[in-house]
Amino acid sequence: MTISEVPGKQRTPGLSWYDLVLEDDRPPAEHLRTRVPYTARTQYVPVERYTSRAWHELERTHLWRRVWQMACREEHLPEVGSYVVYEIAGDSYLVTRTREGTIKAYVNACLHRGRALKDFDGRCSEFRCSFHGFTWKLDGSLRYMPGVDEFPDIEADREAWRLPEAKVGTWAGFVFINPDPEAEPLEDFLGTLPQHFGVWDFENRYVQAHVAKKLRCNWKVAQEAFDEGLHLGATHPQSAPYVGDGNSAVDVYGNYSRQISPSGTPIDDIPVDPAEKDILARMLDVREGEELPIPFEQRTTARDSMASAARERWRDVLGDAVDEISDAEFVDHWNYAIFPNLHPWGAFNRIVYRFRPNGDRHDESIFEVMFLTPFSGERPPPAPIHWLEVEDSWTQATELQTLALVMEQDTFNMEAVQRGLQTTRRSHLITSDFQEDVVSWRHDLLTDWVETRAAEGGR
Ligand code: FES
Ligand SMILES: [Fe+2]
Repeated sequence: MTISEVPGKQRTPGLSWYDLVLEDDRPPAEHLRTRVPYTARTQYVPVERYTSRAWHELERTHLWRRVWQMACREEHLPEVGSYVVYEIAGDSYLVTRTREGTIKAYVNACLHRGRALKDFDGRCSEFRCSFHGFTWKLDGSLRYMPGVDEFPDIEADREAWRLPEAKVGTWAGFVFINPDPEAEPLEDFLGTLPQHFGVWDFENRYVQAHVAKKLRCNWKVAQEAFDEGLHLGATHPQSAPYVGDGNSAVDVYGNYSRQISPSGTPIDDIPVDPAEKDILARMLDVREGEELPIPFEQRTTARDSMASAARERWRDVLGDAVDEISDAEFVDHWNYAIFPNLHPWGAFNRIVYRFRPNGDRHDESIFEVMFLTPFSGERPPPAPIHWLEVEDSWTQATELQTLALVMEQDTFNMEAVQRGLQTTRRSHLITSDFQEDVVSWRHDLLTDWVETRAAEGGR
């Protein structure tokens, strides 16, 4: 179905991404450029979803304890006994590699009197509680307890005292967990997503940069700042001459979606029509009087020039496979979102975002940015997390290069959105009919997961 076939659907006029890429020298493969429009229209989103403690607690019960969620990368568990403490909305899980090489996740709580078994990421041969010394093997079975004669109930049925597990699944080098023992397999949850990411080969990438910033806003306020191109003109005016917002692609496929902003084509309502060479100069942040760092020929376009330059840059790592890869995969912003909180940018953008509540707070969040970068030769170790507090600037994270400034612009709105939501007299926000479909889609899913299930009294 095309967008125009969705009854009543409105979209900014102008060339859409799906048509724009057909004019490229190398268009994307058909499955990457097929439209899968969201059929729902404009949404009215209840403000309480961002501001209410009660809604946060419903999310904790009905969403975070039941949904597949990315806990870490496989490379964070390089050896037997490596473990990551994954925290989500007040819950904590230990994700570890067992002696058999498999990955398991346990609820991070001692079964004796409840101490968290681990406080930080690390590596161990067994999980030993620091309080009284109860110890579990990496496979979750109980190995040791002090004063054994005083725990006849445990001794009588040791199997019942294994560490409770969450389900584990992996995709593209990401480790997902799901605390719900009845959850569908990860493969079913992700649907056709692996077909999109096949050639982008996320397994063979490493965490080159990893920055985590604390924010004074609900996790959905932070996430929704990255769901659409509609904000580009106001929030990132420097990009207006080369990122077309109205030309975006927006597709929704069950539990994942994507929003693609084309690069090398100006925003619709820019007052002048920039020349191709000027577009290229803006894309590359070239100042007045400076030379372009890549070749530009008069008869080509900014898009073509960027694509050729990127193709040659990636040839070192990807080899001649670059010749099979489309221009759009090198130049556009392929922002995929997996419900509920992971954004692995597709193609060769390297960017991954994850959004979570900060601890058990409904009005604070943690926003992480990773660069997942291809490598040749031996896998480099993953970058340690660089934490930024609420007051810190993204520009302190120099490892993010030019992205840090963009993040600074997006973050500028977030706390103010939370403040506005807390004072607004309206009960609902409104989303646009096309460009904000990703926001609408996620709220539709949240309605299913959080509200409908709560009304049904659980499952
Ligand atoms: S609380 Fe863990 S050993 Fe007692
Ligand atoms: Fe932005």
